[in-house]
Amino acid sequence: MTSLHVLTQAPDEVACGTGVTDGRGRAVRYLRMSVTDRCDMACVYCMPVGYQGSPRAELLSFEEMVRVAVAFRAVGVRTVRLTGGEPLVRRDLVSLVAAMSRAAPGMDLALTTNAGLLERFAGPLREAGLTRINVSVDSVRDDDFRRITRGGEWRAVRAGILAARTAGFTELKTNTVVLRHENLSQVREIAQWALAHALVPRFIELMPLGEGAALMANHVPWAEVRDALGDLLGEAPPDHPADRGPAFYLPARGGGRVGFITAVSNQFCDVCDRIRMTAKGELRACLASPDGLSLRDVMRAGATDDELVAVLRDVLAGKTAHRFTESGFGQAPGVVMTGIGG
Ligand code: 5AD
Ligand code: SF4
Repeated sequence: MTSLHVLTQAPDEVACGTGVTDGRGRAVRYLRMSVTDRCDMACVYCMPVGYQGSPRAELLSFEEMVRVAVAFRAVGVRTVRLTGGEPLVRRDLVSLVAAMSRAAPGMDLALTTNAGLLERFAGPLREAGLTRINVSVDSVRDDDFRRITRGGEWRAVRAGILAARTAGFTELKTNTVVLRHENLSQVREIAQWALAHALVPRFIELMPLGEGAALMANHVPWAEVRDALGDLLGEAPPDHPADRGPAFYLPARGGGRVGFITAVSNQFCDVCDRIRMTAKGELRACLASPDGLSLRDVMRAGATDDELVAVLRDVLAGKTAHRFTESGFGQAPGVVMTGIGG
């Protein structure tokens, strides 16, 4: 395992800040950090056909990523979720997790993965300090899975999920992007599979981002997914928080819960507490905004830790709101999802 040296102070001396509030009263607590823009699958709504990924030198190094996590901890972020592309195609991801959990004690470290390679890495990731895993599951049928992911193998993904369970991950969720002509008819089956394995199934509205923009005729509002789930769902509490987010949950009849992420039909900007960083180190205060600030440039220009923290404070204080609509592409021209990580 590679050892990373990024800290100038011992971990317990590094500030664990209380947070920065933006103009809308939101405090950012959650960072989605893309570690690569490559993927070993190519889901129809995400990955452009033939996408090669960026040259390695343009991506942040692990040392830089750990530095960013430590700086975010100082401005109140409590969760870092590693995303991609597919995080597990980045070599030695386990050592990144280990270094981050050493350098940013108390930080909740989560992963979003397609799980195609997870079987092998679930145990080591757990040991390295990862706490939670979300897995994309757009079908639980071999053929449909292969078609939607352009080549992914459901069997490998299934094995990866089960390996994560065995490794001791209790908080496992599935994410399904619902597409009318691809998998709307299978949402019940997907939810049943997930619930039977004590996972939390979540259904995500297709967003008009990247490849998704051209597929918006396939967009399905969340209420239709709820209807398709039928009696799988229990009685919703009268005040179920359909207007809260990013995810909200309804109880499942046989126990467990089912989540919905309704970025289009039910915008949740007012409760958004997250920020994103692309694999190249660009900060995106909002998924729908192409504006990015390059932390890579800031760090490679020689910024000190304090200067890095000051930059983050400014960005968080200026976080904006998105405007996705079913027909419009919001403010997201040129956003390629694979570099941002969902
Ligand atoms: N719309 C909604 N979700 C998307 N993702 C990628 N592209 C889109 C899109 N256009 C999300 C999926 C996937 C994660 C990696 O990114 O939820 O599980
Ligand atoms: Fe890869 Fe995930 Fe994008 Fe699918 S959604 S192409 S698995 S990064």
